[in-house]
Amino acid sequence: MEATKPHIALLASPGMGHLIPVLELAKRLVSHQSSKVTVFIVATDHASIVSSQLLQPPAGSDGDDLLVVLLPFIDISDMVGSGVSYVRKIEATMLRSVLFFRIEISKMESRPTALVVDMFGTDALGVADEFNMLKFVFVTSNAWFFAYALHTTEIDIKEIDEHVKNRKPLKIPGCRPVMFEDTNETLLNYPNDPSYERFKDIFIKMSLTDGILMNTWDELEPTSLKALRDTRKVPIYPIGPLVRPIEKSVLCSGIMNWLNKQPEESVIYVSFGSGGTLSIQQVIELSWGLELSQQRFLWVIRPPTEKDAAGAFLTLTNGSDGNLDYLPDGFLARTHDRGLVVPMWAPQVEVLNHPSIGGFLTHCGWNSTLESIANGVPMIAWPLYAEQKMNANMLTEDIGASIQAAAMESDGLVTRGEIRSMIRKILVDHEGRNIRARIKELKNSAAKALAEGGSSYNILFQLAEICIQHLN
Ligand code: UDX
Repeated sequence: MEATKPHIALLASPGMGHLIPVLELAKRLVSHQSSKVTVFIVATDHASIVSSQLLQPPAGSDGDDLLVVLLPFIDISDMVGSGVSYVRKIEATMLRSVLFFRIEISKMESRPTALVVDMFGTDALGVADEFNMLKFVFVTSNAWFFAYALHTTEIDIKEIDEHVKNRKPLKIPGCRPVMFEDTNETLLNYPNDPSYERFKDIFIKMSLTDGILMNTWDELEPTSLKALRDTRKVPIYPIGPLVRPIEKSVLCSGIMNWLNKQPEESVIYVSFGSGGTLSIQQVIELSWGLELSQQRFLWVIRPPTEKDAAGAFLTLTNGSDGNLDYLPDGFLARTHDRGLVVPMWAPQVEVLNHPSIGGFLTHCGWNSTLESIANGVPMIAWPLYAEQKMNANMLTEDIGASIQAAAMESDGLVTRGEIRSMIRKILVDHEGRNIRARIKELKNSAAKALAEGGSSYNILFQLAEICIQHLN
């Protein structure tokens, strides 16, 4: 009935890692929960978003119920300097975008009854208050990370010292503790890092909302979700795994044609997400590891980088044009019959869905992790930054869906010998059989959670109901 259709606004901050799950949530609210949704997107490149398939209305919908408003991205690089981290830039940008967002909301004839923002959009929650909207935050990561992040903004500084200076595990009420090795950089630098205070502010605001949505599901993280529900007043809504659907248009690309020629579950897919890079030494070790494994591979490669003294990444070679001169001499020729190296980007969801993929060497960004699980692909966990080390630990130690690369303490390198044996273990060796079986179970569990009557499906339904009640 049109009269009881809730209108929900979603605000996505810059970066594919946020935009993809936010848009998926929007489409599910429209197609399964019969809501009207307006998505506000803050993006650097409006043209590429408009031309991509991402904004296609969900199947079965006529498009009227999903509106998209592109908000300007104010480039603040000049204002904050080049050494400022990507996260700080997103935050500063979002703070400015709130003004545009408020203007758009105030102009709307049929104003939304609820607002959902991602973690970088918490400054917009004040607009929700102003216009009497319900407010939700969508954590596009997992429950264990959320419990950890929330806890670290509340505990005594002495406890953080114990963890960081004395390398003691950090206890999170009701959850698995976090080992020192897996700690997020923000906490490691807490006394000097302006992000630490900023995170505190974000998490305080999040605790005062009508609910926290997370891109996870009950069966994947029962312990952390129970702990959050037992210890927090704010309602917890696991609604995942929301991943980008397959785009039919890319199925005939060169990469997919190459995959079509490979045997079933024979290829290791190697990618470090939307921005992950390795040092030149590590790229060379990885090349050798791939070669020595004698397995098929598809490697999405970026030019090597090194961190400068301020922690910013410097590109060492001019490889963004596809030049691969930095690879070991003869590597491409020696592996050309069983390997494909693709500069910069591959259609990942379509790749992971291909039957020839047998394993994923991943940086464990949460979207990549969910895409791998949703397609039943076992992982080699090779975390780089942000919460990726926690994700890797959870996948390996708790869920049993991956093996993890161990960097040598002395030089931080993962050696070619280790890479070779991990690839063989995940693809072919008897030792990897439990992980291969476990990931198939998880794939089924993910599909069940989102299917009609599943845990995440029901929670989305509940959310739409809450919005209808607020309307009345
Ligand atoms: C960042 C964080 O580091 C991550 O841990 C956090 O959970 C989200 O934001 P990012 O590098 O964006 O990570 O990784 P991820 O979350 O995995 O998202 C990358 C997205 O880009 C995925 O949806 C992936 O399918 C897509 N992608 C990436 C491609 O389609 N092709 C590529 O070549 C690389």
